[in-house]
Amino acid sequence: MPKRLMDSFGRVHDYLRISVTDRCNLRCVYCMPEEGMTFEPGHRILSYEEIAEIVRTLAPLGVRKLRLTGGEPLVRKGLDRLVAMLSAVPGIEDIALSTNGIYLASFADALKDAGLTRVNISLDSLVPERYSRITRGGDVRRVLQGLEASRRVGFAPIKLNVVLMKGINDDEVERFLRLTNEEPLHIRFIEYMPIGIPGGTDWSAGYMPLTHVLDTCERLGLGYSPCGDVYGNGPAASYRLDGAAGTFGLIRPISEHFCGTCNRLRLTADGNIKPCLYWSDEYNVRSLIGDPAAVEALFLRALDSKPESHEMAKALSGERMSRQPTNRRMSQIGG
Ligand code: GTP
Ligand code: 5AD
Ligand code: SF4
Repeated sequence: MPKRLMDSFGRVHDYLRISVTDRCNLRCVYCMPEEGMTFEPGHRILSYEEIAEIVRTLAPLGVRKLRLTGGEPLVRKGLDRLVAMLSAVPGIEDIALSTNGIYLASFADALKDAGLTRVNISLDSLVPERYSRITRGGDVRRVLQGLEASRRVGFAPIKLNVVLMKGINDDEVERFLRLTNEEPLHIRFIEYMPIGIPGGTDWSAGYMPLTHVLDTCERLGLGYSPCGDVYGNGPAASYRLDGAAGTFGLIRPISEHFCGTCNRLRLTADGNIKPCLYWSDEYNVRSLIGDPAAVEALFLRALDSKPESHEMAKALSGERMSRQPTNRRMSQIGG
């Protein structure tokens, strides 16, 4: 039996989320504080060669799917060079990108040629002034140009990530849903997660339960039904409006967590293995690069300690947690 990345709950891990930078050209309200962050200095960030070496060690252990995240991955120079290095690793079948889309129109061709398979684009509002307020300065027209470039070069499937926030963008559900009618876009509504917030909880971005999306369908008389998984294995429960070309999905980490089927590990830009998005446990792999057996052993050790689930609901109720939540903000993890 070949070695696999299995944790103590029997979950097999075939998906690595790689954060290539903690920097971002935006400061979305649910992700970064208004004053911004102190970024890691360049010498503490893994080089592309180091990332590729880690992936070469993990592919024989069953990692098949990679996702490049940030901060904003496209602020790092030459990302297509990393994509080309990763797509040459035997066993890697899927290399995806989570991006805010602002620079996507400029890099879509190079990324596609290098072997990027697909993109998930954050787009929380289609109203320009509102988009600018949520992202603290972003221009939605550039994201739409990035979306257009993604269609043109043939990334598929294309997913749009919408973090739904009460009183901020909850009135745009219908408009997003209707985007799926004519083209095979996948709109995923996401519950806001309080990650890395000092003191545990900060609902200032306005937590909104995603029952709102299905309620909107009922209210408008839009027929829909659950559909099978959209390519990518992700955490969304997927639905299709009757007769629509695309789908919509609900990502409910809080009200209906998906930890039982978690198949993902994370690598931070500064070279730490994070077995779970939520907890503070990290394992520094950087100093071991160059020794594949030691890298492999550290990933197995990290997996062994992976907890069964997050405890975000306890952050809400103030209940005592079983371990220490992370103090990294989302931009320092990559979602
Ligand atoms: P696909 O492979 O295309 O399904 O992508 P994905 O949903 O795995 O990745 P993406 O970066 O688009 O993330 C969408 C949302 O899911 C973001 O809000 C992430 O923070 C959240 N997310 C991704 N993985 C996890 C996880 O393991 N736990 C929790 N709680 N949230 C996650
Ligand atoms: N809660 C939920 N999703 C978040 N993202 C960033 N911060 C949060 C948060 N606090 C999403 C982004 C992006 C994805 C990688 O993570 O919108 O689409
Ligand atoms: Fe930047 Fe993405 Fe965080 Fe927005 S969600 S601030 S685009 S890293």
